Amino acid sequence: MAEHDYDVLVIGAGPGGYVAAIRAAQLGLRTACAESRETLGGTCLNVGCIPSKALLHASEMYEEAAHGALAKFGIDFQGVTLDLDRMHAEKAKAVKELTGGIEFLFKKNKVEWLKGRASFQDKNTVSVGDRTVTAKNIVIATGSSVTPLPGVEIDQKVVVDSTGALALPKVPEHLVVIGGGVIGLELGSVWRRLGAKVTVVEYLDQILPGFDGEVRKEANKIFKKQGFELRLSTKVTGVTVQGDKASVQVEPAQGGEGETLQADAVLVAIGRRPNIDGLNLEAAGVELTKRGQVGIDHDFRTNVPGIWAIGDVAPGLMLAHKAEDEGIAVAENIAGQTGIVNHDVIPSVVYTHPEVAGVGLTEEVAREKGEIKVGKFPFMANSRAKTNRDTDGLVKVIADAKSDRVLGVWMIGSLAGTMIAQAAQAMEFGATSEDIAYTCHAHPTHSEALKEAAMAVTGKPIHI
Ligand code: FAD
Ligand code: NAI
Repeated sequence: MAEHDYDVLVIGAGPGGYVAAIRAAQLGLRTACAESRETLGGTCLNVGCIPSKALLHASEMYEEAAHGALAKFGIDFQGVTLDLDRMHAEKAKAVKELTGGIEFLFKKNKVEWLKGRASFQDKNTVSVGDRTVTAKNIVIATGSSVTPLPGVEIDQKVVVDSTGALALPKVPEHLVVIGGGVIGLELGSVWRRLGAKVTVVEYLDQILPGFDGEVRKEANKIFKKQGFELRLSTKVTGVTVQGDKASVQVEPAQGGEGETLQADAVLVAIGRRPNIDGLNLEAAGVELTKRGQVGIDHDFRTNVPGIWAIGDVAPGLMLAHKAEDEGIAVAENIAGQTGIVNHDVIPSVVYTHPEVAGVGLTEEVAREKGEIKVGKFPFMANSRAKTNRDTDGLVKVIADAKSDRVLGVWMIGSLAGTMIAQAAQAMEFGATSEDIAYTCHAHPTHSEALKEAAMAVTGKPIHI
């Protein structure tokens, strides 16, 4: 008889947890995954990446059709109407298919789904709903949830978080978004395209913290042109709801005279925090970082042998692909292999139009670390972008001044989210800017802008 019920128990079936469970099972380990939601896939598949991208895609098509963006190509629409219920239904279908797909993969790989909330009893024992199970290894992959804003109550009707903003039953006349980060701009884009006036209130002096400064500035310019009202260096001091309206009190971040914005909906999107409530980590002796994440080493081990942590609940970028890669690596480490994630090369993408993407160091950080060279190329000079009449944005390559090794790539452009994969791969292989510049890129493609930006690092692009 085995000493424990399972070799591996994963807590949480988001992109981190479900991938860890599948890989562990593939490696021959007896694996279970505890998940309290009705469906698998975590935040990403249920109320994050997938439904947001479904609405971004659909709203982009609506805007193109409804606001005459296609007229210049000779494509005219008459009487375009919006059926928001159908748009939501199609989004729900995508979510259902994908979450159902994970259930299928669990069955195929013989991962047992333990339905219910997990709570540690001791370092090898966990209660899940009304069951108690033991495991030799336990992976904490409980993800994150919305950071609340003190004094602002989320009722999911007038004042919503991202989950509520993915399901608004009608287009608000005026949506006030608190937080000019990824969620604010993506979901703000959805509702602006569908007809809302959108005001983004951002505490810092620029949107999209963590992105390259020049790209942030360029994004700001483009979003303003699209009709976003961006209130930078501004803080929200309170929100009062009366019936189906809200009053949002704002004032300059540094203090000063305040004003009140009237809104039909308020989206709170000021970041996310790790899910540790109810896990009873004390019973296992697992320690947290100062920021409330589960502390881990390079191999994803917590301070307690046999307990591991990955994804949003652990330090690092809160991104699905980071969680997935950590899921594979932790399972391989548990199986005695060498699972590694290179946290220096994790791409970030904002799925607005144009998309904003980056990988590696920003110009600001790279400059602090040493001497660098920077090459840029605007989509205005890229033949495919010009042909498509879609020339907003640029590509920027940052390389070490001496070795020419690429340290970071940042871009804003309609296909930036897809193009950034090439940059990440080049960096993972230790490429120099010259390596990218001398790689043959198909013509006419947006990717040629990356090649030319790399050529510009040493001052020799062809098309500008
Ligand atoms: P999660 O996906 O949060 O999954 C954790 C799971 O654990 C949850 O299902 C939860 O129910 C379960 N759980 C928690 N506690 C317990 C417990 N005690 N017992 C049992 N189960 C428990 N990232 C991207 O890379 N690209 C995107 O386009 C993108 N879009 C996003 C859009 C929105 C609106 C949001 C909110 C997030 C988005 N993200 C995106 C971020 C992405 O969703 C997260 O980084 C990712 O889901 C983290 O994966 P995870 O496995 O760590 O945790
Ligand atoms: P974020 O960290 O991206 O942005 C939050 C913004 O709110 C910041 O700009 C911050 O300065 C601002 N802010 C904080 N407190 C404020 C206050 N009191 N008043 C006004 N502004 C304030 O967080 P966001 O947008 O909530 O997203 C959470 C996480 O979800 C992201 O960090 C990202 O990792 C993930 N995500 C990823 C997506 C993607 O990859 N495309 C899409 C959506 C979410």
